[in-house]
Amino acid sequence: MSKRTFYLTTPIYYVNDVPHIGHSYTTIAADVLARYKRAKHFDVFFLTGTDEHGQKIQKAAQSCNKTPIEFVNTVVEKFKTLWNRLDISNDDFIRTTDERHCRRVQKIFQQIYESGDIYLGEYEGWYCIPCESFWIESQLKEGKCPECNRGVEKVREKNYFFRLSKYRNRLLEYYEKHTHFIQPESRRNELLQRIKSPVEDISISRSAVEWGIQVPADQTHTIYVWIDALLNYITALGYDDDLQKFQKYWPASVHIIGKEILWFHGVIWPAILMSLKIDLPYKIFAHGWWTIEGQKISKSLGNAIDPLSIIQSYGTDAYRYFLLREVPFGSDGNFSYSALIHRINSDLGNDLGNLLQRTLTMIEKYFNGTIPEVTITDDELRSASQDTHEKMGHAMDELQFSRALEIIWEFIGRVNKFIEDKKPWSLAKTSATRPQLAAIIGTLARAIKDISIFIYPFMPNTTAEIQRQLGILENNSPPCLELQQRFKEGFITQKVKPLFPRIETT
Ligand code: MSP
Repeated sequence: MSKRTFYLTTPIYYVNDVPHIGHSYTTIAADVLARYKRAKHFDVFFLTGTDEHGQKIQKAAQSCNKTPIEFVNTVVEKFKTLWNRLDISNDDFIRTTDERHCRRVQKIFQQIYESGDIYLGEYEGWYCIPCESFWIESQLKEGKCPECNRGVEKVREKNYFFRLSKYRNRLLEYYEKHTHFIQPESRRNELLQRIKSPVEDISISRSAVEWGIQVPADQTHTIYVWIDALLNYITALGYDDDLQKFQKYWPASVHIIGKEILWFHGVIWPAILMSLKIDLPYKIFAHGWWTIEGQKISKSLGNAIDPLSIIQSYGTDAYRYFLLREVPFGSDGNFSYSALIHRINSDLGNDLGNLLQRTLTMIEKYFNGTIPEVTITDDELRSASQDTHEKMGHAMDELQFSRALEIIWEFIGRVNKFIEDKKPWSLAKTSATRPQLAAIIGTLARAIKDISIFIYPFMPNTTAEIQRQLGILENNSPPCLELQQRFKEGFITQKVKPLFPRIETT
């Protein structure tokens, strides 16, 4: 039987500047989901990439005295390096300057044009370069961009338009029928509210912008950067000249995005797909925004911390854990070093790290480092593990990552309490209670192996390290991810090494 497929995407990031915490958040969340689904035996295709055309990037290149392509080539490397250091397991990386993408975008544009959904008209309104968004006068807030509150410029151009208005009613029907299409619920409601007002056709080309994909058969226009960008989700799958991959993975299981780009993904993108007569993605999930020490992350405030410097000091797994544990996926969050250090010392060091350390020390002390054979196991802990597995699975399917981690940590708490309740050290005093002691230690080792599996999507290196210390992982072999694959006793454990050494703060 062929495996079920799961196609997930991140937004493709603008390369006008280097990546920051916000970009890493979306990509880590997608990676966690991709790893989880792979472990559940799905055939996963995980796509990320970069959005490289448009006025914003053209300007950024000019200000560095570089040609656009020279400029984007250097910034793209920074994204790739970061994803590598964050253990992002994407299956493809699409650049909108890739020949495969440009060729397919032109073909799709032509197809929509021929269907009658694109026409030439006159655009008069405002344009926000940082958001690459068109706005009409009534949408501006005190003359500024309603999205980012920055200055806008007046635009009057002959442009190609897409008949978005034609799709408004079909979209409304679609949202009504597919209540899980846009998540979370609060964002869905906002979008529904907005689309209830009249929807105008949208301009989808620029005559003043050179750095872009040329409109087929019209050298005087480039394709609007948002249309170019959204199409990445299907051009990366080969649409429409190499359909094998496309047919296998489309429709996308989920597009993970930040809340500020929901209009493009929840309205414009589905309308384009409807025009192309292609099925819509199953889900669009818009997560919240991070601030840093209470402030918006911004180039002008100069507070965009480089994620590389955080992981250099605190490690990749701790950073991944913190971002997904700290706030429910969908809500806004605040990054602070004190909150990060607190999570490392308490959740990772005390709860998880100490549990492993205590257990390994007892295996070393009472059983010479060999996990004892057990005949009696603790049923309660075993069923708690099964329960954790199921509950965590439901949370993961709903993209409730912080909830999944909470569920895992409840189990870790339970295992720690098991040690306190059973007091293995008192059973070690006499040989008469040796079978009970073996049962407790064997049960503990099993529970820790289960924990190492639960945390895998979030902290793959920690999984490997726990399994290595437990002696069940050969050097460089892939971690064991099967709960059902029963743990064999008799493993020789490795030297105890703290997983998350305490970070002292002054
Ligand atoms: N290029 C467009 C997306 C095109 S997708 C077809 C774009 N790029 S971006 O570089 O500005 O990245 C936006 C995405 O980065 C957000 O949607 C979000 O996923 C992430 N974040 C950027 N800043 C963020 C925060 N401060 N907090 C959380 N995530 C944010 O928009």
